[in-house]
Amino acid sequence: MSRLIDHDASGPLRLDESDIDEKKGDIAICLCGLSESYPFCDGSHKRTEDESADRSYRYDKTDESRQVVDRIVYADGTEERFEAE
Ligand code: FES
Repeated sequence: MSRLIDHDASGPLRLDESDIDEKKGDIAICLCGLSESYPFCDGSHKRTEDESADRSYRYDKTDESRQVVDRIVYADGTEERFEAE
């Protein structure tokens, strides 16, 4: 499975001790790309639990919808297909 996620950050975020969760004693970094508190995990990854390994998905953060992506068409006319076998 893969996910198409919109990111607008263009550089790193330096973490420090103030980023440690006081209750859990750790820092959880979001790797699914869906967190509203990015780069920190906010539990939004639960939305991915039923993804199929052979599919690609596009998540819309504004209405929390999800679509299966079967192809991307680029501005130069080339395309990339993600159809399941
Ligand atoms: S890993 Fe992305 S919200 Fe938890």
